[in-house]
Amino acid sequence: GAGKALAGKRVVITAGPTREPIDPVRYISNHSSGKMGYALAAAAREAGAEVVLVSGPVVLDAPAGVERRFVTTARDMLEASGHAVDEGCDLFIATAAVADYRPDSCAGDKIKKTSDAMNVALVRNPDTLATIAARKDAPFTVGFAAETRDVEHYALDKMSRKKLDMIVANDVSVPGLGFNSEDNAVTVFWAGGRENIGPDTKARLSRRLIALIADQLTNKEAR
Ligand code: PMT
Repeated sequence: GAGKALAGKRVVITAGPTREPIDPVRYISNHSSGKMGYALAAAAREAGAEVVLVSGPVVLDAPAGVERRFVTTARDMLEASGHAVDEGCDLFIATAAVADYRPDSCAGDKIKKTSDAMNVALVRNPDTLATIAARKDAPFTVGFAAETRDVEHYALDKMSRKKLDMIVANDVSVPGLGFNSEDNAVTVFWAGGRENIGPDTKARLSRRLIALIADQLTNKEAR
């Protein structure tokens, strides 16, 4: 309703891992649980936004009032996110841990273990966040950076390379934080500043993050 930080805004959020098939029963993926993206979707909804959640395979329930669209691969995520942005989007937040590479082909039948070694050739996946940020009608874009070292350096590099408005850096080398955990600690960067949030639950951290993002979005719209 009126007075809420994201009232009337349309928000698209990516969450969870992607799965890249090797054969009908196997895939390449990562440890993302979707918890960070789902907590942000709930916080954006609480702040009055209309929220579309583009989600990889996770076991979480969709937050109340949030429209969820499931995807499997990085290419599915690019397509579903593009459609969601086409429908109208003021703010795009990418929390998904997208597989950077996929097998160059998916075998039609289950691969048999007939030899001692096996090679899977990989090719680069498309980058959803960079693609959305490069659009002429790009929404306000927020990326995440999961790093194990030189967190600030790599985060700032990603923000400028992908032309993002903000980036949220998490140090995923800290046990109990980041991937597949209840808590997180992040540093948020934007052109004019930075802020540390947490360690805290992903729910509480998301409320602060949404407040910060809403401030910067309002500032940009006023320029
Ligand atoms: O899901 P949880 O278990 O709660 O864990 C949360 C998290 C650790 C996965 C999350 O907080 C996080 O850090 N997500 C980003 C993971 C990551 O490794 O990002 P990246 O450095 O590969 O990519 C940078 C940014 O580009 C991210 O916003 C990512 O969503 C986006 N991206 C990357 C590659 C790609 N092909 N498409 C993308 O959109």
